[in-house]
Amino acid sequence: VPFIITIDGPAGVGKSTLAQRLADHFKIAYLDTGAMFRATAWKLGEDSWDWDSSKIETALKSFSFTLSGSGSNSVLSLNGTALTNDIRTETVGMWASNVAKIPAVRVFQKIAQREIGNTTSLIAEGRDMGTVIFPQAPCKFFLDADLEERARRRFSQLEEMGKPANLTELIEQIGARDDQDRNRKEAPLKAADDAIIVDTTKLDIDGVFKKLVAEVKK
Ligand code: C5P
Repeated sequence: VPFIITIDGPAGVGKSTLAQRLADHFKIAYLDTGAMFRATAWKLGEDSWDWDSSKIETALKSFSFTLSGSGSNSVLSLNGTALTNDIRTETVGMWASNVAKIPAVRVFQKIAQREIGNTTSLIAEGRDMGTVIFPQAPCKFFLDADLEERARRRFSQLEEMGKPANLTELIEQIGARDDQDRNRKEAPLKAADDAIIVDTTKLDIDGVFKKLVAEVKK
């Protein structure tokens, strides 16, 4: 039976970095479900969140996500093509948040994500991993941090990717995206009742990593 660890939390909290490090440490795959929503939004295109549900459902029928590799070398592909950093901007993040409100998109993602988790041990990262997609996971984390600290982390991340952003703008964008994710009807961003909640505002990545590894081993 595949082993699943879930990590949920708001944007820029460090989920991806920690999930990849945990996946390397435990030698299992890393599933970035935010990337699945980003790629979906990117491929459907701008304004797709205004489409009616049958148009969305028809479009989604031609989408197939696969996960290969392990640890930080895990590769997510859509219809056989590996996802790239093109989907990593805040603009695409907001598109993703917009399509993530559509019930048909969430149903599609749930099926795709569970299919991957049925055959592969995973560190699954997102917004609803512990609450909706893998509620049976034996180990669940919810990471949080102050908005400004998260914007600073995202700022450095984007800079490293060669996609420099403006910090003031990022604070606004990430704040707006989190509000939308927290307040939506379907699978809102929140901690599962049995999740271990870690406030990472004042912790460095190594500190959080050690804390999470110790919790998994319990
Ligand atoms: O994690 P990331 O910032 O890449 O996610 C982009 C957006 O995708 C989120 O703001 C959220 O609206 C949506 N998402 C979601 N459920 C997930 C993962 C991401 O709704 N499990």
